[in-house]
Amino acid sequence: MFFLTTAIDYTNGSPHIGHAYEKVLADVIARYHRLTGEEVYFLTGVDQHGQKVQQTAEKEGVSPEEFVKRTTGKFSRLWTKLGVEYDGWAETTDVRHKACVQSILSNLYTKDQIYRKSYKGHYSVRQEQFLTDRDRDATGNFGPEWGEVTEIEEENYYFKLSEHTDWLKSFLEGPLETILPAFRKTELLNAIDRNTGTDLCISRPKERLRWGIEIPFDANFVTYVWFDALINYISFIGFTPDSSLPVFDDVWTDRPVHIIGKDIMVPAHGIYWFAILHALGFTDEKMPQLLVHGWWNIRGEKMSKSLGNIVDPDQLADTFGTEALRYYLVRDIHTGKDSDFDLDRLVMLYNTELANELGNLCNRALNMSQRFTDGIISPGGPLTADDTNLQQSLIDTTAAYRKAMDNHEISQGLEALNRHVVHCNQYAERMKPWELNKNLQSKDRLATVLHHLAESVAHCAVLLSPILPGAAVKLASQLNLATLSKLKLDDLKWGLIPLHHEINPPTPVFPRIEVKAVEET
Ligand code: ME8
Ligand code: MG
Repeated sequence: MFFLTTAIDYTNGSPHIGHAYEKVLADVIARYHRLTGEEVYFLTGVDQHGQKVQQTAEKEGVSPEEFVKRTTGKFSRLWTKLGVEYDGWAETTDVRHKACVQSILSNLYTKDQIYRKSYKGHYSVRQEQFLTDRDRDATGNFGPEWGEVTEIEEENYYFKLSEHTDWLKSFLEGPLETILPAFRKTELLNAIDRNTGTDLCISRPKERLRWGIEIPFDANFVTYVWFDALINYISFIGFTPDSSLPVFDDVWTDRPVHIIGKDIMVPAHGIYWFAILHALGFTDEKMPQLLVHGWWNIRGEKMSKSLGNIVDPDQLADTFGTEALRYYLVRDIHTGKDSDFDLDRLVMLYNTELANELGNLCNRALNMSQRFTDGIISPGGPLTADDTNLQQSLIDTTAAYRKAMDNHEISQGLEALNRHVVHCNQYAERMKPWELNKNLQSKDRLATVLHHLAESVAHCAVLLSPILPGAAVKLASQLNLATLSKLKLDDLKWGLIPLHHEINPPTPVFPRIEVKAVEET
């Protein structure tokens, strides 16, 4: 089973473009793996506890329960709108999740992995964590990123993180590929070195934070939000520390892939989560892989409420269509790197690559077949070098696409696909089916050319389907090939269109985005 998860989004506000990117990226990867024939389980959801939620709810004068219900709806509705199709939905206020977190806490407590102690130090309310001298800036102060910092003394429960860091280092330095892309591994190893010897505070006194999961062996405390949130990856597939339910073993068969943003690799996923799993007895071979993606920035700046530059994906989907947004989100960024979110580029990439190139190919293949050969696709006479080159281009494209997609490099996968589309359009320019149509003697040649174009459209529809499932369905229906949606990648051989096949009347699948629409946003 290919088990794929995303981070679960904080529900203290509305979804932004970073959230949308991560969910679309995961959806594309999940759909791609289904296309390879693998069984896939895709889990995503929302992180509903914590101080931020409690504070925002208070500010808005509603209970945290009511508040998260409202904000959660904004997330789940947006994912439906964007075609993000998940198999499991994690909400951390779910009773199943709470029971699992509590059973893990009890288990680790009996195993002496959790203890209670008093600690005095500086505390950042915004980041919900104690600070150390390492968090001070060059001037010796705690910078504005920590928000309000107060000194407090508190009793709390601690998880013996320090007992797992030696293992963690050797595991990460070992042969198993765990951090993707690999360039992030050094950052993580350095962070582990800085953190050795410190344990993780996993509780908050109720007088400070009410909105969390109660510690099962001490009703005066709730669980720290990260010790709650990370566990969603196992609670919602039926893990229990004593004997897991069968569904857990069916889903967590080998190494899951957790898709996360670069800000939550250190320390949450890269250190805490691996250590928790290790303490629960997970073997190295069962440890997750972290696919760490970069950030969407706005004109080189971080998106933030204070800068007022947050991009609303819901509104963009209304303006440009969900498929244009999906396309842009995975096309204009290299997985792992940062990118600038730029509406001009969204329009330019859509208009160039989809409306012009792919749209043109579809139009030529389907429209001309409708007009010149009564909608019947059938190979005509003998093949020329142009034809075999086109067939070779498709083979090369499919291989390059698969290689890129196997590495979660969606942008490169699309580049490969687009190379074939350009090849087809150049072929059409040279073969001039509109001229061939004028001459009765070239009818066979015309049929061959149109067949090569239509066959290419059929392949492109399948290759494009993880990224643009809606367009793929439309293309399959215009080609009158319902079978396309059942094909796996290994089925992609020349000859998807049967002999003398009749297509349906075409309509444009990628209408141009007019610049007027951009100016209005
Ligand atoms: O961190 N570009 O939630 P979150 C790309 N609840 N990705 C971005 C982004 C941006 N500008 N801004 C945020 C949390 N993200 C926790 C996760 S997981 C057990 C708990 C990504 O709502 C971010 O990196 O702050 C993270 O992966 C996800 O959105 C949710 O961020
Ligand atoms: Mg965040």
